[in-house]
Amino acid sequence: MMVSGSPIGAARAVELGIVDRLAGEGRLREDATAFARSIVGQPVVLVRDRQDRVDPYRGKPELFAEFRKKNARAFRGFKAPENIVRAIEAAVALPFDQGIARERALFEELESSIESQAQRYAFFAERNTSKIPDVPPATRTLEVNTVGVIGAGTMGGGIAMNFLNAGIPVTLVEMSQEALDRGVGVIRRNYENSAKRGRLTEAQVDQRLALIRPTLDLTALAEVDLVIEAVFEEMAVKKEIFARLDGIAKPGAILASNTSFLDLDEIAAATSRPEWVIGMHFFSPANVMRLLEVVRGRMTSNEVIATAMKLAKRIDKVPVLSRVCWGFIANRIMVQRDRQADVLVLEGPTPQEIDRAIYDYGFAMGPFQMIDLVGLDVINREVKERTVAGDLVKLDRLGQKKNGGYYDYDDNRKATPSPVAAEIIAEFARFKGVESKGAQTPDEIVCRLLYPVVNEGAKLLEEGIALRASDIDMAAILGYNWPVYTGGPMFWADMVGLSQIVAKLKWYEAQFGERFKPAALLEKLAAEGGSFTRN
Ligand SMILES: NC(=O)c1ccc[n+]([C@@H]2O[C@H](COP(=O)([O-])OP(=O)(O)OC[C@H]3O[C@@H](n4cnc5c(N)ncnc54)[C@H](O)[C@@H]3O)[C@@H](O)[C@H]2O)c1
Repeated sequence: MMVSGSPIGAARAVELGIVDRLAGEGRLREDATAFARSIVGQPVVLVRDRQDRVDPYRGKPELFAEFRKKNARAFRGFKAPENIVRAIEAAVALPFDQGIARERALFEELESSIESQAQRYAFFAERNTSKIPDVPPATRTLEVNTVGVIGAGTMGGGIAMNFLNAGIPVTLVEMSQEALDRGVGVIRRNYENSAKRGRLTEAQVDQRLALIRPTLDLTALAEVDLVIEAVFEEMAVKKEIFARLDGIAKPGAILASNTSFLDLDEIAAATSRPEWVIGMHFFSPANVMRLLEVVRGRMTSNEVIATAMKLAKRIDKVPVLSRVCWGFIANRIMVQRDRQADVLVLEGPTPQEIDRAIYDYGFAMGPFQMIDLVGLDVINREVKERTVAGDLVKLDRLGQKKNGGYYDYDDNRKATPSPVAAEIIAEFARFKGVESKGAQTPDEIVCRLLYPVVNEGAKLLEEGIALRASDIDMAAILGYNWPVYTGGPMFWADMVGLSQIVAKLKWYEAQFGERFKPAALLEKLAAEGGSFTRN
């Protein structure tokens, strides 16, 4: 309980012995009085003098070691869980007064830490995302009781699950029976796996599956309140679908696209009702990741925006509002990191050194591990020019799924550095005329990959794409698992110091060119001693 911070109900607290007695509903006074009477005259044992809960743990350091080991992954990078464990160790090993003093010291250490500031900031940042200056809280919202999802691929299936989980029926449209069956099959397997892990009952699985209406007929969407399109990322395909939807959907239906990079206004212009068109951009896996970017087109009405923001909460997402631009918020900033990784790997640092630095910063994995996981063919699909990933694909190295990618993999998908990939990288560096400058420190790698993310965040603010720096932080934390204990890129930048970031970007600019030029807003704030996240 202490390391997770998850609240429990009163009944469970009685079970655990945290409280003595629970009063009956509406009987607080009588039950409390009766309880008080029942203990009058009995010897009072102070909690500090009770040993029954502590004794079984004395002289068993292995209990703590096991707990640490079991939770190492979940605790990585966080200071609080470790200090909590230490406080309990002190409670077990020391007399009460010393234990309390130790706990106080451990608490004070946390209270003043950057991690604590960052997490308190993130807590409020999450609650702030739904405040939109020109869409007041009183804005009328529309009823959404039925949803249509077009495309039952990677995203469409996950998107559908969000609504099924909330008890909202989903009409799922595909192009072929095969694709439809596959899509519904994946949803079923996901639910069955949850049931196996005890997270859902069989009845709940059945209830959810019963809410899916699979179909090949787009006109089945005539009566739904909201349509979310999740077909291939191609403008022509999306425009055709929206033009057809325009003739099918009832008046007052919201027409949403899950596009990652395309111009939502152009999609909206394929309809006669652009004020009803909005972006609802989920992150993969869509049934898991908590971020929902709500993309506001030039013409999107306030009611439609307010409805999407409210609906996000109903399906347990955190909505972050974005205006239209290439990649919106999360993808646009994080692409900067991955681009730098692609360039840096030609300059000497190996994929594993780069991945290690990013992992140690607090991400679940580095950019090359990520590409290997997703598949080099998938990442490289739209790319026209020659790239390292493209060269690896030519050798049929597609990542974890086939022949390795940036790494080699054994049968258990354990990664080892790949001599083949190293040679491909070296060959590509020669092709590009990039000279190796040898290894770099992890700090240097982190600056090179993440300062451009901060700079892009500043541009988002300058251009009015994001409403506030804390929205950008939420998008990075909830869409890309940016470590929450850094507060996200913008909060982190404030902690590093904006003038330090500007100086470094200028140094990169001098060496590598314009791409690193600090955004005007970033330069201005640095010059004024200002900050992104403190007012
Ligand atoms: N994969 C991701 O990580 C991710 C994340 C966020 C957003 N997106 C966006 O979501 C959309 C879908 O991506 P995906 O990864 O799920 O692709 P996908 O290829 O896995 O799925 C697309 C599905 O759409 C179906 N489809 C295509 N045209 C159709 C039509 N006319 N009618 C009905 N169904 C049709 C296809 O049969 C396919 O099953 C894209 O716009 C993508 O940019 C993807």
